[in-house]
Amino acid sequence: MATKPKIQTLEILCGDALAKLKRIRMASIDCCITSPPFWRLRDFGVDGQLGLEQTPEEYIQKLVVICKEIMRVLKCRGTFWLNMGDSYAGAYCYSTPRIKQNQEWNGVYPTPTLRGDRNGMGKVPGLKPKDLCMMPARVALALQEQGWYIRSDIIWYKPNAMPEGRSDRPTKSHEYIFLLTKAEHYFYDANAIKEAVVSNPWSKSTGNGNGETGSNVRFGSPSDMRNKRSVWIVNTKKSYFGTHYATFPEKLIEPCILAGTMKRQMVLDPFAGSGTVGQVALKHSRSAVLIELNPEYIPLIKRRCSTWTMQKGDRDNLWYKMLKQKRVMSKVEKRSFVMLQNIDDGSKKGVL
Ligand SMILES: C[S@@+](CC[C@H](N)C(=O)[O-])C[C@H]1O[C@@H](n2cnc3c(N)ncnc32)[C@H](O)[C@@H]1O
Repeated sequence: MATKPKIQTLEILCGDALAKLKRIRMASIDCCITSPPFWRLRDFGVDGQLGLEQTPEEYIQKLVVICKEIMRVLKCRGTFWLNMGDSYAGAYCYSTPRIKQNQEWNGVYPTPTLRGDRNGMGKVPGLKPKDLCMMPARVALALQEQGWYIRSDIIWYKPNAMPEGRSDRPTKSHEYIFLLTKAEHYFYDANAIKEAVVSNPWSKSTGNGNGETGSNVRFGSPSDMRNKRSVWIVNTKKSYFGTHYATFPEKLIEPCILAGTMKRQMVLDPFAGSGTVGQVALKHSRSAVLIELNPEYIPLIKRRCSTWTMQKGDRDNLWYKMLKQKRVMSKVEKRSFVMLQNIDDGSKKGVL
């Protein structure tokens, strides 16, 4: 894999994250953005998936091994943005239909399984039913121990979070994004993601008479912009994209890509799902390597990224020509298109 591609590239690798990461060159990635399956929150319906381990320890151990590979492939000045959500012991783990490679879904949805049973069956060691598992914190501490710098714990606040039907605790409406780095000094373009200043109660701007100044948002001159804050307010996607159930909103990924990379640099997502990271990377003229275990999601990734890999008006032709012939593009094309460098669908050896 070329580390400094002259044109934008997209590589889609179908297979296990750890195995595929091992085939990526050391220090070839500028920025990694990913959302691994959270511990026992969702069954993605494919053999070999991360997230269905019996204990938090087992899950963390596996994730830490994968993160070690991410550290290896990341450049010294690279950043790693890790999305993590939490779950409750004794709650349900929701399933998507299980599939095996080359098998069709039989149309039956599996029953949800319990994450540590109330009666002691499958109990999570050290956790009581109804305990918040604190997985983001556990993972972050394990990664800090591995050598990562934890530079920020960003709260992703979801104003449209699903109601939970519980009245003995607040409804969960946030997840975390950890900004991790290999080194003390790293690439971070703060200017690219500055946000508008919101007046505060200590400013001289007028309030609404109720002591609230929320409407005093000032836009315009550069002095009205400030460093991005650590709470990001982004709605979840209203419906899943195609057949994927845990899709990132593009707006959540944009700041990570803009702050973490320059144009033409390489972004990695080892748990690509429906390919949001790839789609946003390409949109902003970055290149991407995407790894996804479930072969069912590969067409979805191709479809989402296709807006940026095809020529307007000649979409299908260019797509197939690029795929089948891997032809050399003209200078004009180089400026306007992304070269789909490699699709490793598991049927043949990758060409990294
Ligand atoms: C939370 S989803 C990622 C969603 C993605 N951010 C998006 O916007 O669509 C996690 C993905 O990891 C995949 N996955 C699970 N175990 C994996 C493994 N061992 N290697 C690679 N991918 C895996 C699942 O199939 C699932 O699509």
